[in-house]
Amino acid sequence: MKEDQRPPLHLQNHQRNKLSITKLFTHTSAYVILVLLSYTLGYVSHSYPPQQQQRLQLQLSQLTPPPPSVFQFANLPTQLDNFRVTAHCSNSPLPPNLVFPTILDRVFNGCSPYTNFPPPHLRSFLKQKRIKGWGSYGAVFEHLIKRVKPRVIIEVGTFLGASALHMVNVTRKLSLQTQILCLDDFRGWPGFRDRFKDIKMINGDVLLLQQFMQNVVYFNATGSVLPVPFSRGSGLEKFCKWGITADLIEIDAGHDFISAWGDINRAFRILRPGGIIFGHDYFTAADNRGVRRAVNLFAQMNNLRIQTDDQHWVIDTALAKQI
Ligand SMILES: C[S@@+](CC[C@H](N)C(=O)[O-])C[C@H]1O[C@@H](n2cnc3c(N)ncnc32)[C@H](O)[C@@H]1O
Repeated sequence: MKEDQRPPLHLQNHQRNKLSITKLFTHTSAYVILVLLSYTLGYVSHSYPPQQQQRLQLQLSQLTPPPPSVFQFANLPTQLDNFRVTAHCSNSPLPPNLVFPTILDRVFNGCSPYTNFPPPHLRSFLKQKRIKGWGSYGAVFEHLIKRVKPRVIIEVGTFLGASALHMVNVTRKLSLQTQILCLDDFRGWPGFRDRFKDIKMINGDVLLLQQFMQNVVYFNATGSVLPVPFSRGSGLEKFCKWGITADLIEIDAGHDFISAWGDINRAFRILRPGGIIFGHDYFTAADNRGVRRAVNLFAQMNNLRIQTDDQHWVIDTALAKQI
């Protein structure tokens, strides 16, 4: 800048003062922030017990996550493989003829739930037969039952028993001695009575289990079908613990990814080697966010082959492992 272009001296001084004040201020702020930060960290590290410190450090490190390494990606299947559940499975699977007695003993105090069913106070609330299902009469049932000739079938998600009773018909036709366990909490889903108003409710307790049992009685199938009226998770865990395995397992309960994923993983642990696990709703509007995603991921991780039969997915463990 030329001499004559410079501002007057008093203005130059003023600008210089301004600059040094700004500098001072910036330095001071940085200094204050630094002091505050060190103080906070010091305080935090002193005042938290070691475990919380670790957690805090973990949280701080999570604020700036390192980019995933190739190792992490390569290791992903192993990490997901750890489907860790609390129950330990029995090392000695029960023979098929002990499956029903075991359920009667452990779930029903040794007494058949069909004894004196229906009790007089419920008779007027139940229909002689009330069935409704979804894809419950598909050819897949006969295809698979013919292929496996199951001694034990476990159905996860039964509702009024349409598919379970269809399987009874198929096994009868094939002269098989098959026992079917129906694992369902028999609560339906929130709001299901909007479409099933005729399924009565007494003091908030919907009579789904009772109407299912009435259907079983109607089809004269009490000797081959037993309800297990609990949640899928706890039921499948207990089956595993008690050594209950099945030749054929149908998954047809919750159709969101998390439900299907949990059910498939848990049920697979109680599938007899060479058995078949299958389920409904592989092709739905949920597309790759529900059942299909869970099935595909499971098959991929376990190197299993998926077949489809209409709307059903099928994993036959007797087939050579291949994708
Ligand atoms: C689509 S229905 C089953 C239909 C049956 N398979 C048929 O074809 O007739 C789904 C069933 O899963 C049951 N369910 C849903 N969530 C459940 C859970 N967490 N535990 C146990 N059962 C459940 C419901 O009570 C319902 O009866």
